[in-house]
Amino acid sequence: MLTPADAKARSLVDLEPVASDSLLQLIALAAADPRPEKIDVGVGVFRDGAGNTPILKVIKEAERRLVDTQVTKAYLGSAGDKRYAELLRPILLGEHAEDDRIAGLQTPGGCGALRLGFELIATANPAARVMVGTPTWPNHPPIIAAVRLERVDYPYYERGQGAIRFEDMREALSGAAPGDVALLHGCCHNPTGADLDEDQWREVVRIVKERGLIPLIDIAYQGFGRGLDEDAFGVRLMLAECDEVIIAQSCDKNFSVYRDRVGSLFVKTGSASATSTAMGHVFQRAREMWSMPPDHGAAAVHIVLEDPELRSRWLVELTAMRDRINSVRQRIAAADPRLAFIGRQFGMFSMLPLSREQVLKMREDHAIYMADSGRFNVVGLSDDQIGRFTDAVVEALDA
Ligand code: LMR
Repeated sequence: MLTPADAKARSLVDLEPVASDSLLQLIALAAADPRPEKIDVGVGVFRDGAGNTPILKVIKEAERRLVDTQVTKAYLGSAGDKRYAELLRPILLGEHAEDDRIAGLQTPGGCGALRLGFELIATANPAARVMVGTPTWPNHPPIIAAVRLERVDYPYYERGQGAIRFEDMREALSGAAPGDVALLHGCCHNPTGADLDEDQWREVVRIVKERGLIPLIDIAYQGFGRGLDEDAFGVRLMLAECDEVIIAQSCDKNFSVYRDRVGSLFVKTGSASATSTAMGHVFQRAREMWSMPPDHGAAAVHIVLEDPELRSRWLVELTAMRDRINSVRQRIAAADPRLAFIGRQFGMFSMLPLSREQVLKMREDHAIYMADSGRFNVVGLSDDQIGRFTDAVVEALDA
């Protein structure tokens, strides 16, 4: 332990270097590659057939209205735009939208929601352990470490088979203690694309309830898998069965507002008054970290969801994004029987059974940028890149 004298002697020059986030590093690496044929399937952003990440037409329209009608930028408070969070309720919570034991607030992206959810758990029970199926989003472990909760990893996915290791998941969750946290991916699992089916969700919900665990569901890709309602199946089942549920949600992808950082956190407890107390802590933690969330992106989403015409046009644009994801998946799956599993998965990501060396070789030989883990963004490919990508992958698998 540092004495005050030691602490005084240390300064910023004594800091150890820290490895930068692997996914963010990949954005810079791909951008710096001068080869015009480069393929960037690293970070998770939707691209259309031409390889662009356009602003949705409904968001453009909402932004125009915002500029024309917004009369003040005065503070809104730690909850952000309350109407935005209300408008999300039926989309995310479905039949539970009116449940007064569930409260929500606007957060800076899904990442802000996750941090706040874990902050709440650490405030209530610093001894809680977080059960994490691996592989998972590379930013989950650092967020859990930042709130000083213990993490227990269990294997979620068998890479060579493209399959969920459900028995391992059952065993790990069944061995968890009451009050421990089950971190779950609501849909479009990042990084594997391997989602629980409905029976598996039922079983996970049963174990969570029986063991008295707290589920924290990260749902960042609602609407990118099977549809808005279908993708919320696990969230809604958990809400139907369990008294305490935490949901970290993101609009960054399904409204394509990535850099505007648009998310929300929803908390359910056994009573409206306990939820209100929990939200008091949530507001306090938010105040300490970012005080208030950025307004612009959520204000645009609010305008889209409030206006029936814009809302139905958003559903059309969302469906088009989902259809492209699924059609690229089918094209990749058809290229080689060893890639067939990609056609049975959901969302933006899948994981290729390639070693780190093979991934780096593809980077060097073909200017193809994917995560070291073999995770690639299915929909990072433009239409004319798909053939070249699958050829390179098949070449690597044959080697
Ligand atoms: C991803 O996994 O690529 C996205 O969620 C972007 C991010 O912040 O890592």
